[in-house]
Amino acid sequence: MGKVEREVWATKIGLILAMSGNAIGLGNFLRFPGRVALYGGGAYLIPYFIAFFLLGIPLFWLEWAIGRYGGLRGAEWLGPMFYVITRRRLGRRGALIAAAIGGGLTLAVGLLLDAYYTNLLGWVAYWAAWSVSGKILTIKSMSEAKEVFINALANPVYNLVPWIFTLLVLALIVAPGVRRGIERAVKIMMPTLFILAVILLISGFLIGAPIKPEWNSIKGFIWMWTPRFDKLADPAAWLEGTGQIFFTLSLGIAGIIPTYAAYTRREEDLALSALTSATLNEVAEVVMGGSIAFTFAYAFGGPELIALVQLGKISPFGLAVVAYPAFFGSLGIPGAILASFWYILLWFAGVTSAIALVNVVAAIFKDFGLSRAVGSFITIILLLVFGLPITYEGMVTGGATSYLDFTDFVVGSVLLVVTCFFESVFGGWFIWGAEGLEEINRGALIRVPAWVWKYVISIIDPIFLLAMILWLPMTVRVEAIIESSPIGAQMAMLSSVFTALLFIIGAIIGYRVSAKKFPE
Ligand code: ALA
Repeated sequence: MGKVEREVWATKIGLILAMSGNAIGLGNFLRFPGRVALYGGGAYLIPYFIAFFLLGIPLFWLEWAIGRYGGLRGAEWLGPMFYVITRRRLGRRGALIAAAIGGGLTLAVGLLLDAYYTNLLGWVAYWAAWSVSGKILTIKSMSEAKEVFINALANPVYNLVPWIFTLLVLALIVAPGVRRGIERAVKIMMPTLFILAVILLISGFLIGAPIKPEWNSIKGFIWMWTPRFDKLADPAAWLEGTGQIFFTLSLGIAGIIPTYAAYTRREEDLALSALTSATLNEVAEVVMGGSIAFTFAYAFGGPELIALVQLGKISPFGLAVVAYPAFFGSLGIPGAILASFWYILLWFAGVTSAIALVNVVAAIFKDFGLSRAVGSFITIILLLVFGLPITYEGMVTGGATSYLDFTDFVVGSVLLVVTCFFESVFGGWFIWGAEGLEEINRGALIRVPAWVWKYVISIIDPIFLLAMILWLPMTVRVEAIIESSPIGAQMAMLSSVFTALLFIIGAIIGYRVSAKKFPE
């Protein structure tokens, strides 16, 4: 193996902040509270934490190990990484097919997930602007907030400008490189995010009942965490608990964790750093995300609003774009301040995840000889292309989101699990063998036991993941997504065509790049 020139994180704190920033995102502050509300309150933590220990932590370690092993050999993204970990056991042809699978999944998930994720961030940025400017104080009810939001969706200027602004920020962060771009940005954004989250958490508890005396915010917290064990009889609670672990830890999301891990030093501790990053993510999710969301929601809408969430009639993202603006708007100046904190927090959380996706696609372009800067800007143009159907649908239907919801289901739920399945098969004991365990334990401050690799990652996890792949499509009511929009069928078809097309292109790239990079 010749010496490979590669970028590395400048500091350990930079690595941990980048990795936890990658994991902490809209999933922590919006998706998680919604899942808790739907699937049993405190009882939901049972499937959630079983999945965290059985799949989350082991697969997180596996992704870190695949990443550094690949990085040391010149593989910066999942396609070529799959080649290097499977080459010995599967032979050249088999490894090239593995690279094709990794390439297809990376390109399809990387572009399509980031396209809708950044769209959501555009909407968050829109509300952030309303909050900081104080305009939010003109909104007093959910119907007013909804009207403002739908008008914004229907207006290409309001719809596109915050999104394009967000995309430009992402490119400007990723373009200068790992140290000068990503690491610098997370060192500012992540501490700010935690400070804002603590302020909002405390405010949520102290705010009491500003709207109606009986709607005390603490009751929202109590409602949120009261266990409703009967909900655990619903298989969806188990599936959703597991799915949330993938989403929140960014597991299987286009190999963004392995690519960040590719920038670690040969002898650097991975095992403890991974555990620290995962723990920070859980603090942000379980301690902060849920509490902030539900103390505010209850103080604003009391049991009636909570019932709408519980019945699935208003999504957590819906709360963010219609309930919270009305709540903050009703509170006067302190409301505008809290709103600014809340939307800036959401935007920072999302940006530090979205840059990891831009970074992965830019890494693919690097394998074609393009600079990181050029690759980052081409990536945001592609995100614009694949996200435009969301803008178009919002405009022509007055706010329907079937393209977003359908894509979220296919790439944001199913393909994550598919990616993790291949990672655990290729990276497990039977194919990659002892090298994976050596990689995670080299320089480590704690030791990952061999049984985790041999039995959990290599046997239990692939079986679990396969069952999920077969089961997931049966649980989501695709027809409901399609029927939610007058052009739902066309949008679902477009999303499927994009997914298939990007998978095929990514597979060809993964195969060819690996064949060229690793000649026999
Ligand atoms: N892990 C990221 C999130 O939670 C994608 O939003």
